[in-house]
Amino acid sequence: MLTKAPRGTGDILPGEVEKWQYLEEQFKKLCRDYNYKEIRTPIFEHTELFVRSVGEDTDIVGKEMYTFLDKGDRSITLRPEGTAPTVRAYLQHKLYGQAQPVKLFYYGPMFRYDRPQAGRFRQFHQWGVEVFGSREPLLDAEVISLAVAFFNSVGIEGLILELNSVGCSKCRPSYREEIRKYIAGYRDSLCLDCSRRLETNPMRILDCKEKNCKEITNNIPEMTGHLCEECREHFKEVVESLEAIKVSYRINPRLVRGLDYYTRTAFEIIDPQLGAQNSLGGGGRYDDLVEVCGGNTTPAVGFAIGLERALLALKSKSIEDLYQEKPGVFVAALGNKAGMEGLKMVTELRHEGIKAEKDYLHRSLKAQMKQADRINARYVIIMGEEELEKGKVLLRDMKEGHQREVTKKEITAHLKEKMGR
Ligand code: HAM
Repeated sequence: MLTKAPRGTGDILPGEVEKWQYLEEQFKKLCRDYNYKEIRTPIFEHTELFVRSVGEDTDIVGKEMYTFLDKGDRSITLRPEGTAPTVRAYLQHKLYGQAQPVKLFYYGPMFRYDRPQAGRFRQFHQWGVEVFGSREPLLDAEVISLAVAFFNSVGIEGLILELNSVGCSKCRPSYREEIRKYIAGYRDSLCLDCSRRLETNPMRILDCKEKNCKEITNNIPEMTGHLCEECREHFKEVVESLEAIKVSYRINPRLVRGLDYYTRTAFEIIDPQLGAQNSLGGGGRYDDLVEVCGGNTTPAVGFAIGLERALLALKSKSIEDLYQEKPGVFVAALGNKAGMEGLKMVTELRHEGIKAEKDYLHRSLKAQMKQADRINARYVIIMGEEELEKGKVLLRDMKEGHQREVTKKEITAHLKEKMGR
């Protein structure tokens, strides 16, 4: 127990962390280019927020939440997703008072108690964006294109963008009835979850992965044929906007998503090479959610990308391909007196913005040179007691393979010039 992290969680170790940082930087850079501002919300919220927004009948709320009573007997839940907390913050801090649309992004751990498997964890990380205050289909296209641009920018290829419209509160009820009627005769062949869904949320049956349920729903009439005039027009414009900005998509009329708040546009980005957990990211519109949470009617759209899954898709690429680590300087000090000079030297270099490292284990010169190699040092400063007495050090250029004496006084300025700082 003491040496094992809880099931479904993981440590991100040095070597792997650099990939995370690289992806984080790319996402933040893109968000800035698209003019999104970062928001940070707490890791836990009142349980009611998720029950009301994600939906009582969803797997997330019904089976997967980490919910507990705190010492004040309040029901608290570790956030399973980031949309509801962002809506809560939008209302709490009256962000509706700012110029609309309000364009936000976030990054952080999420928690779902599901059966862990490849690409599915109990603590996982999402990046998401949420935009409030516009029902423009052009905005749906912008949001989708940001998700796609992220995968392109980090070199994840071969993904498919699946798109659908799940309609609105006006056109969905008649579609639900249609599904109920269609499926009524097969009720006994549905899985347990779906026979419950038939009463509570029949559209979710379309999303079921069970073979029997899939067969039953194979020929079910499509939602796109049941959209009201406004939803049909909206969907048409989303598709046209994506085409205008050259984002390829595939319409999947069975795409319904696992959270209840969606209206109109729903999308998912799939990696066909990954197994069952092949959705790298997903999102859509949720024009009713702000009102459900107690605000005025405010249209909104967003998505979230799962970091662990993006990393699975990146697996084959080494960090060096992705992330050009800053070259550094290694200070090889030999002997006790030189050790202190070495510490002063790395401190000085670091203050000048140069990455610097030294040995702390009294290693031999040979072993210190090996250590310098491991940290990918471009230069090694060799400090022996003899050289130091003359006020000099040896500077070895690891790339060119030669070394020469430099006065200790000049070394920092010299390296600053050489390393372009
Ligand atoms: P979601 O589809 O539930 O949507 O999650 C988004 C992404 O998070 C998934 O595509 C997947 O990559 C990742 N993910 C979900 N669950 C797990 C898990 N157990 N382990 C690893 N990765 C996982 C949402 O969460 C919505 N809030 C997205 C959104 C934002 N819609 C509008 N705005």
